[in-house]
Amino acid sequence: MQKRIFLTASAVAILALSSASVMAQANTFKIGLILPMTGQQASTGRQIEAAARLYMAQNGDTVAGKKIELILKDDTSIPDVTKRLAQELVVNDKVNVLAGFGITPSALATAPIATQSKTPEVVMAAATSSITQASPYIVRTSFTLPQAAVALADWAPKNGIKKVVTLVSDYGPGIDAEKYFRERLTFNGGQVTEALRVPLRNPDFAPFLQKVRDLKPDALFVFVPSGAGAAVMKQFLERGMDKAGIKLIGTGDVTDDDQLNDMGDGALGVVTSHHYSAAHPSALNKKFVDAFSKANKGLRPNFMAVGGYDGMRVIYEALRATKGNGGGDALLAAMKGQIFESPRGPMFIDAQTRDVVQNIYLRKVERKDGQLYNVEFDVIKDVKDPGKNK
Ligand code: PHB
Repeated sequence: MQKRIFLTASAVAILALSSASVMAQANTFKIGLILPMTGQQASTGRQIEAAARLYMAQNGDTVAGKKIELILKDDTSIPDVTKRLAQELVVNDKVNVLAGFGITPSALATAPIATQSKTPEVVMAAATSSITQASPYIVRTSFTLPQAAVALADWAPKNGIKKVVTLVSDYGPGIDAEKYFRERLTFNGGQVTEALRVPLRNPDFAPFLQKVRDLKPDALFVFVPSGAGAAVMKQFLERGMDKAGIKLIGTGDVTDDDQLNDMGDGALGVVTSHHYSAAHPSALNKKFVDAFSKANKGLRPNFMAVGGYDGMRVIYEALRATKGNGGGDALLAAMKGQIFESPRGPMFIDAQTRDVVQNIYLRKVERKDGQLYNVEFDVIKDVKDPGKNK
C-alpha cells in the first residue's frame, strides 16, 4: 500500500517535471550561435560572442514573455562541422534562429538547413555577396566585400593611385573584393596590373609581397579575413615596401580594430574603406565601445563585434514584433525591413535582398589619445550591396 502511494507520488512528480520542461520549452526562445571559437578564425568568435552577451546584458534576457537562451557552438571554421552543428541545433535543440557564421563557406554550408527547416539564419560575419541568395531564410548584419571595395576604388585614382596590384585570400570574399575593386578602378581610369591570390588556410604572404615589391605599383590593395591583417602589415613593413613608395590600401579587414593598436607606427596613414570603426564618432558608438571594453578586459570591439551586436538586435526586435508567437516565417518577415541606429551608423535590412544597407566610410590610420585608430574622413551614405545589381 505504502509502495503504491510512493509510486503514484513519484509518477505525479515526473509528470509535473515533464510538463514543467514542456512549459520551459514553450517559454524559451533559443538562438543557436555557431562561431569559430578555436582555430585560425578564433578572434572572430571571441568578438561576436562577447558582443552577443553584451547585447543580452544590456537588453535583458526576456523578450515578449520568452526567456532567451543562447546556445554557443564552436565550428572551428570547418564548414562540414558548421553544417552538422546547425543540423543538431535545429533537430535536437529546436532552436528558433541560427546565427553567427565566421566565414563564407560556413554560412553557405548551413543555407540548405535554414531553407528546409524554415529557420532564419542571421549571418553576423561572413561577407561574400552571394550568401543571401543561398537561402530565402538568410538575413545579414555584417557587410559585403563589394560594398566596401567599390568606395576605395572611387577614392584611389583621385588620390594619385592609378596602378594597383591586388592581393586577396583565395575564396568568396577575396574574389568579390578583387572583382569589384578592379571593375570600379578600371571604370575610373586606373588599372590593376596584377591580381594575386593567397590561400585562406595558413597563408604565407612573403613570396606574394616580394612579387609586389618587384612590380612596384602605386598601391597594393589587400583583402584578408579578420585576424590576418597584422601578419600582412608586418611583412609589408619588413620588406620596406612603404619606403619603396608602395601604398597599402584595402577593405577595413586589414586594419582590423582587434589588432590595429599592436601594428605600430608603420600602419599610420593606411587608408581603408569599411562599415565600422571603433573610432566612429557617435554617442551610441562611444557607449558601445566603452561597455564592450569594460566587459572584456579592455578588448576593443571590431567590425565582427558590431555584426554580432546588431544581429542580436534584429533577432530581439523580430521576437518582440511577433509577440513571441511566430514561427520561422513570421520571424523572418519581422527581420526584413528593420531600420535602426547601430554603433556603425544608420543601418537597414533591405526587405527584398535581406542584406544590409549602410554607410561606407573612408578611414585613415591615425594616433588618437596614444592609440591607433581608423579615423573616418569621408562617408558614402546608404550603400547597397553592388553585387545584387548584376
Ligand atoms: C568571410 O569569410 O566571408 C569573411 C571572413 C572575414 C572577413 C570578411 C569576410 O573579415
